[in-house]
Amino acid sequence: MPIAAPSGLISITDKEFLSLITFVKQKYGINLEKKRVLIEGRMSNMLRERGFSNFEQYLDVLFQDNTGSEVTTLLNKLTTNHSYFMREREHFDFLQSHVLPFLEHIHPGHDLRIWSAGCSAGQEAYTMAMAIDEYFGAQKPLWDTTILATDISMNVLDKAKKAIYTEDNLKDMPEKWKKIYMNRLTDGTYQVCEKIQKQVIFRPFNLMDPFTFKKPFDLIFCRNVMIYFDGPTKDSLIKKFYNATANGGFLFIGHSEVINRETINYRYIKPAVYQKGGKPG
Ligand SMILES: C[S@@+](CC[C@H](N)C(=O)[O-])C[C@H]1O[C@@H](n2cnc3c(N)ncnc32)[C@H](O)[C@@H]1O
Repeated sequence: MPIAAPSGLISITDKEFLSLITFVKQKYGINLEKKRVLIEGRMSNMLRERGFSNFEQYLDVLFQDNTGSEVTTLLNKLTTNHSYFMREREHFDFLQSHVLPFLEHIHPGHDLRIWSAGCSAGQEAYTMAMAIDEYFGAQKPLWDTTILATDISMNVLDKAKKAIYTEDNLKDMPEKWKKIYMNRLTDGTYQVCEKIQKQVIFRPFNLMDPFTFKKPFDLIFCRNVMIYFDGPTKDSLIKKFYNATANGGFLFIGHSEVINRETINYRYIKPAVYQKGGKPG
């Protein structure tokens, strides 16, 4: 019988905890070692609602499920998908002042390949699309700058495709952008305009899987995602990003994230910005 914690939570035994965190780490790179309380807190209700009286019963179902739906529910419960428009604004300023001028210069073909890896509900990818639209202005129709935006959580990808956000999510967005790129809906929420929505393609993708992209990327944003990963997982992911970056292309990570500068091949440009090869203009 499960031991009922004082708060009414279903407590997880050491063995169950170990097998759950090992599974999530191996499959998704996410390190939940210090998240025991979070696991009990976020999963107890769901277990009870589904008639499981302990974690062992739930884990049996999780490990045998081949449809992917169990693991999707699990990830929706355990990952933190917090995001908002213009998060870490310096990145979008640097994008417009240095990165886009450089990429524009080296890409006479008018085609940029861009990836928002770990995109949550789409705020990062849409902010990039707005920054790019503003930068190119009247020249934008001449450029293909479609952004690939990926995440493992189907919940957030569904939200991203709807492109509807509360006012609070837009608090750091310049008023000018709010006017041009967002439509206010009757219930007071805001939807990203169609022109910007069309610039982003959302897809499920697990960053632990092999990268099989046909062409390398000029710009990769993977911000506030690696916080979940341990050192070796981060190192190997950064190697994969490097191999998937075009010469002269950039990797942006979150400002609070640390990567081992000794072991990476990217050139350090400024906090949380790295480049493969060439110098920015
Ligand atoms: C905190 S959000 C960051 C969103 C956005 N990049 C930002 O900086 O605002 C982290 C996202 O990473 C996703 N994530 C975590 N592990 C992942 C993995 N192995 N593959 C793909 N996405 C992952 C989570 O689902 C979550 O939506």
